[in-house]
Amino acid sequence: MGYIRGIMWNKLPTWQVFLWWHHFFLLWSTIDGQTRYSIPEELKQGSVVGNLAKDLGLVVSELYRRKLRITSDAGKQYFSVDLGKGELVVKDRIDREELCAQRPSCLLPLELVIDNPLQLHRVEIEILDTNDNSPSFLNKEKVVKIAELVNPGARFPLESAQDPDVGINSIRSYLISKNDHFKLTVKSHKDGRKIPELVLEKPLDREKLPVHNLILTAVDGGDPVRSGTSEITVVVLDINDNAPQFERQVYEANVSEKATPGTEVLHVKATDADEGLNGEIEYFFAEQTTDLILSLFDIEPSTGSVVVKGMLDHETNTLLRFDITAKDKGNPEMDGHCGVEIKIVDINDNTPEIIVTSLTTPVPEDSAIGTVIALISAKDPDSGDNGKVTLSVSPKSPFKLNPSVSNHYSLVTNGPLDREKNDRYSVKISATDSGKPPLTSEKIILVELLDVNDNPPVFSQPSYVVYVKENHAPGNILCSVSAIDPDAGDNAKISYSILDSKVQDVSVSSYVYINSDNGSIYSMHSFDYEKLKVFQIQVQAKDQGSPSLSSNATVHVFILDQNDNAPAVIYPSSAALGSLSHQRMPRSAKAGHLVTKVTAVDADSGHNAWISYKVSEATDASLFTVNLYTGEVRTKRAVSEQDDSSQRLLIEIKDDGEPVQSATVTVSILLEDGLHEPILDLRHKSMVEPSKKTGRITLYLILSLASVSLLSLVTFVILAVKCMRSSRSSGSCCMRRSDCDDYKNPNRNLQIQLNTDGPIKYVEVLGGDMLSQSQSFRSCMSPMSEYSDFTLIKPSSTTDFKEVISVLDASLPDSTWTFESQQVSTK
Ligand SMILES: *[C@@H]1O[C@H](CO)[C@@H](O)[C@H](O)[C@H]1NC(C)=O
Ligand SMILES: *[C@@H]1O[C@H](CO)[C@@H](O)[C@H](O)[C@H]1NC(C)=O
Ligand SMILES: *[C@@H]1O[C@H](CO)[C@@H](O)[C@H](O)[C@H]1NC(C)=O
Repeated sequence: MGYIRGIMWNKLPTWQVFLWWHHFFLLWSTIDGQTRYSIPEELKQGSVVGNLAKDLGLVVSELYRRKLRITSDAGKQYFSVDLGKGELVVKDRIDREELCAQRPSCLLPLELVIDNPLQLHRVEIEILDTNDNSPSFLNKEKVVKIAELVNPGARFPLESAQDPDVGINSIRSYLISKNDHFKLTVKSHKDGRKIPELVLEKPLDREKLPVHNLILTAVDGGDPVRSGTSEITVVVLDINDNAPQFERQVYEANVSEKATPGTEVLHVKATDADEGLNGEIEYFFAEQTTDLILSLFDIEPSTGSVVVKGMLDHETNTLLRFDITAKDKGNPEMDGHCGVEIKIVDINDNTPEIIVTSLTTPVPEDSAIGTVIALISAKDPDSGDNGKVTLSVSPKSPFKLNPSVSNHYSLVTNGPLDREKNDRYSVKISATDSGKPPLTSEKIILVELLDVNDNPPVFSQPSYVVYVKENHAPGNILCSVSAIDPDAGDNAKISYSILDSKVQDVSVSSYVYINSDNGSIYSMHSFDYEKLKVFQIQVQAKDQGSPSLSSNATVHVFILDQNDNAPAVIYPSSAALGSLSHQRMPRSAKAGHLVTKVTAVDADSGHNAWISYKVSEATDASLFTVNLYTGEVRTKRAVSEQDDSSQRLLIEIKDDGEPVQSATVTVSILLEDGLHEPILDLRHKSMVEPSKKTGRITLYLILSLASVSLLSLVTFVILAVKCMRSSRSSGSCCMRRSDCDDYKNPNRNLQIQLNTDGPIKYVEVLGGDMLSQSQSFRSCMSPMSEYSDFTLIKPSSTTDFKEVISVLDASLPDSTWTFESQQVSTK
C-alpha cells in the first residue's frame, strides 16, 4: 500500500480512496467465486460494500417485491440493503479490533433472505485492518533506580508498549530521547513481543546529575505512523563516594587568653556532596591531637564550633595548631581534614617581676657616687607592650638605676651616704609594664651601711670645771668626762687618756689618773690650795677605728680653799721675843692713843683669811681696846696715875673660816713717863722689817697696810716711797716704772678692784702664792687713787687671756669682784 500512499495520498480526497478500495476488493471477491466483500474498517455510514443484486443474480426491480433482507444479527447491526439499487451499504461503524481483536483475519458472515421464492444467500464480509491505533504504554511514567556506581553495559528492562493494530500496523520499534548515558536496545521474545531495554553507556554520578529524565517512544509500522510515549525517570542512587570537604584548608582565629570556657573560637564547616547519611557530617579532633589541645578546646560534633574548654595562657602557648576531621555517616565512612591555628592573644595578666641578681650589702658609708650596689633585672612573661617593663627607684633615696642590657639594671649610689644619719635604706624598686592598664610590682631592697670611722668622739662639753676641796683624801673621783662617737662598733669604742702636761714642773699624771673605759678622773693625792689653786688636764678621747680619731677636752680643776691655816702673827714678832713683846707708851697719852698695831696674816683666802682681832685677856680691860679689823691697839681712856705701869694684853686673832682658826699674841705695854709718841718707832720698825724680809712678806705687809684706814695710808705712801727706793738699790721690790709701762699692752693686763664697802680692803691676787705658782705678779699703785688699790696681773705663762678670764669667772662664783679690762695709765 506504501506506493499507493506515495502516489495518491495528497491528491485524492479520502472518500475517493475508499471507493477505489471497494472496487478493488469487489473485483477480487468476484473472481474468488464466492460472494465475499472486503472492506476496511471504520468505513463511513452509507458506504457501499457491494452490489448484491448483480452479485447474487437478482433483478433490481424485483427486490422490493421479494423483500431482500439481512437476517444475521451482526449483519443487521453493521449493514443495510439499498433495495432501489440492490447495494449493501455500511450502516454502522465497524471496528475490526472490536470484532476480531488481534486475529489476523476478520470475517463477518452475513445471511440474506429473499422471498418469492424464498432464497438464502450467504455473503462474507472481510474487515480489513487500518492503522487506527497508536502504540500506548500502560504506565505513562516509569521510575528506574540505578546506583551511581553501576558499570556501563548494565541493562534495565522497560515496559513494552501496546498497539491493538495488527500486522504492520502494530509496534515496529522503540526510540529513547537523546541523552549522554543511556542507549536503548529492543529485545524480541519468542512470542513476538518486543521489550525495550535501557543500556548504561557512561557511568553515572549522582552528584552531577541525580535524576535523568528520558522519554521512551514506541512507533508502529502503519501509515501514517503512529507512536506513544512514556516518561522514564532514572534516579541515580547515592553511593558514599564523596569525602567531606572543608571550606578552607586552614582556619585561623585569635582568642584572648582571658576567654572563659564556652567561648566560641571559630567555626569550621565541611560539605559532603553525598546525600543522606553519606552527606551527614560530624566533626572531631584529628586522631593525633595532643592532650593539651584536648584539655583546652572542645568541638561540637554537629556544628563544627570550636569552643574554649580550659584556661588559656598566652605565656605557655602562643600558637596552638591542630587538625579537625569531618566524617560522614556513610558506609564505609569517608573523612576530610583541615588545619586550625589559634593564636592566643596576650592580655596584660602578668605583673612584672623584679629579680635581684646580686646585692652587695653592707656598703661602706664612704662609697663613691656610682658604686654598684645591686644588679637587678625585670621579667614580664607577657608579650609586646604588656611585657615591656620599666624600673624606677624612689626618687628620695640616694640611689639610682642605671639601665644596662635589655631589662637589666644596676643600682648605684647617687649621693653621699652617712651611716650616722641612716644606717640602712629600704630602697623601693617599682617595675611597671606598658600594658593598658599597666601592672606594677614593687620590691624593697634593704641596703645596710657599713660604718667608716668618719666621726671623732665628741666630748659632752668642750671643757669641764671641777672644784675640789684641798686636803681631800686621794683616790676620789674628781669628775667624769664623757664623749660619744656616732660611729659604730670599734669606731665608736672610746678610750680616755690624759695628755701629758706639767703642773708645777710635775707631770700631770702624777696628780690624776683616768679610767680609760669610762672617763672617770681620780685624784692621786690631796691638794693644797695654798700651793696649787688651779690646774688643767687635757683629756683625750680616742676611738678604736683604723685610723683612729680623737678629740681633746680641757678639765679645769679648781682647788677650793679650806680653813687649814691659822692666822700667823707678823707683828709684834713673837718669834723674836718669845710671844712677848713690849710696847712703851707715855702716861700722858690721851684716849685713842695708838699704842701698837697687831698684824697677822692668814695663808688661806677669802673668809678663811678674814682676820679679826679681839682682846681676850687684859690687865685692865678698861684701858685698851683693839680694833676688830685693823688690829690697832688704842687707849680707851686717858692713862691715869693709878694705872699699873706694866699692862698685859692677850689678843686673840681669829679668821672667819669654818671651823675658826685662831692665834693669840700677848702684848706687854709699859707705861712710861715722858716718852714721845711711838709712831716713829712703829714706822721705823715697819720700814726696817720689809727690807729684811722676803718679797712675800713685803707684799703681805703692803697689802695689810693698804687695808688700814686713812691714817695708815700716809704710812703706806711713805712705805711705798721707801720701797721704791730700796727696790732700785736691791732689785727685790716688785715696783718698777718700766714694768708699769709694760702693762700698757691692753690685752695682757687685768685690773682687779675690790669693792670698798667694808672697812677692810682686801685684795685677792689670783695665784698670789708666788712661791708655788710659776706666775709672777707685779703691782702698781696708782697715785691718783686714795681709796682704791689696784693690782695688775700679768700672767707670765702663755695661758690664753680669755681662758684666764673664764677661769676667774668660774672660780669665784659668788664674788663681789668686778673685772675690768682696761688700759692702765700710770703717767
Ligand atoms: C589575629 O590578629 C592579628 C594581629 O593581631 C591579625 O593580623 C589577624 O588578622 C587576626 N586574625 C584573625 C583571624 O582575626
Ligand atoms: C667608771 O668605772 C669605775 C670602776 O668600775 C666606777 O667606779 C665609776 O663609777 C665609773 N664611772 C662612771 C661615770 O660610770
Ligand atoms: C689634742 O692634743 C694633742 C696634744 O696637745 C694634740 O697633738 C692633738 O692634735 C689634739 N687633738 C685635737 C683633735 O685637737
